[in-house]
Amino acid sequence: PVLVVDFGAQYAQLIARRVREANVYSEIVPHSITADEIRAKDPAAIVLSGGPSSVYEPGAPSLDGDILDLGVPVLGICYGFQAMASALGGEVANTGLREYGATSVDVSGTDSVLLGDQPASQVTWMSHGDSVAKAPEGFDVLASSASTPVAAFASDERKLYGVQWHPEVKHSVYGQAVLENFLHRAAGLPGDWNSSNVIEEQVARIRAQVGDARVICGLSGGVDSAVAAALVQKAVGDQLTCVFVDHGLLRADERKQVEEDYVASTGVRLVTIDAQQQFLDALAGVSDPEQKRKIIGREFIRTFEAAAEALVLEARAESAEGSASGEVKFLVQGTLYPDVVESGGGSGTANIKSHHNVGGLPDDMTFELVEPLRTLFKDEVRAVGRELGLPEVIVGRQPFPGPGLGIRIVGEVTAERLELLRAADKIAREELTAAGLDQEIWQCPVVLLADVRSVGVQGDGRTYGHPIVLRPVSSEDAMTADWTRLPYDTLAKISNRITNEVKDVNRVVLDVTSKPPGTIEWE
Ligand code: XMP
Repeated sequence: PVLVVDFGAQYAQLIARRVREANVYSEIVPHSITADEIRAKDPAAIVLSGGPSSVYEPGAPSLDGDILDLGVPVLGICYGFQAMASALGGEVANTGLREYGATSVDVSGTDSVLLGDQPASQVTWMSHGDSVAKAPEGFDVLASSASTPVAAFASDERKLYGVQWHPEVKHSVYGQAVLENFLHRAAGLPGDWNSSNVIEEQVARIRAQVGDARVICGLSGGVDSAVAAALVQKAVGDQLTCVFVDHGLLRADERKQVEEDYVASTGVRLVTIDAQQQFLDALAGVSDPEQKRKIIGREFIRTFEAAAEALVLEARAESAEGSASGEVKFLVQGTLYPDVVESGGGSGTANIKSHHNVGGLPDDMTFELVEPLRTLFKDEVRAVGRELGLPEVIVGRQPFPGPGLGIRIVGEVTAERLELLRAADKIAREELTAAGLDQEIWQCPVVLLADVRSVGVQGDGRTYGHPIVLRPVSSEDAMTADWTRLPYDTLAKISNRITNEVKDVNRVVLDVTSKPPGTIEWE
């Protein structure tokens, strides 16, 4: 693989994605990794990400300089570029000249491997305080900007390269070309990684892991579990049973969609379990978000265990000898790469929230997990789903979190509140679809502030009801997001309908926060 060394600040995910867009497989590793650990992974190339620190700050993430001597091509970006310069004997200075945002760069190395065939003047996206004042010995300076004499350098001989700007950010007009030059020309990688190899590779891996054991897959109605199940079905066919848990935290009509659309398009064997009361009981009295997430994660697993048990009994009843051959050892989950990274499971990054299927799993779980999408981003999962022949209504669906409406009620989850939120959510979805906006937004959580009340007036009377929050976001991979500028008319319609049609709601508010600093969901 190409290893992306993560120096923090969420840039590494974006770089990993862009590398994959160049059809080269990439993985993220923490900056604390040593040269020996890197060597053991036998990478084809290494990219050092940007980060929030200054190389001089005490506690700044450091780079094991031996990484630069492995003979593996390295590209340093922003902080990674400066860390490289400083490790190789160049000079990094705090010039007091910050560059932030769109910045014009003069390229002198238009015939170089890294910046070859690029315009001599181009717009890049910068975000730095320190600058490389002097390139390391033996390095060619390839570009400069008004306040940075060394904005890019290279040593073709040592296959070491660096740029001060962020080529992974779309505002860097030739950014993707920089990455592709590094991967294809400097590192000589062919660019032959795509969703068909993912399928082949995963099918082989699933068969090796599962053998002839039986497997269950939790279907949520979302894209990820649908694609994971289809992959497992392709790998082990009838050994798979899908389990759909109706935990009562679903949106309107969701159960029907799974039971009808998914089964119709895949022919998979499906068991639905009605666990509404079980989840409500477990969530009673709880309003802390992390606690809710953990409870929901735990109850999911308990339900899958019960389902597996029932399948075993069924199999025993069917087989004459009553043998134990029906054991269900594996649980398939549609865990994605961002879930892993954001649950702190990736690389020593902070735990932002416990995704129900990663940090929310109980310790005493007996299933072994099968997670064929664990290294993929959402758009890659969609591509795999299409390749597997799943219909657009499934692969094109907007994301919906496993813990469902349970993490969209700020406060305790009760049956009454769920009903209210479900009604508001249905209206918002109907109006967004009617306005033709489904493709424009990544998703639009609808949140009930159950512990907040405000005064309103309806008819001739005073009301004292709850606010509903609309959280429309645009995103490429949910790692970062911006709030979607929805047309006022659509917002007005949604607001009118919700306040008129949903009991106890007398106010609709719009969330205008990007991620970061907000997350997409409220909990
Ligand atoms: P946040 O709120 O972390 O959400 O910005 C990022 C994306 O992940 C979804 N999400 C989840 N999905 N289980 C899931 O399957 C979870 O526990 C979970 N929490 C958040 C969220 O809807 C958004 O698309």
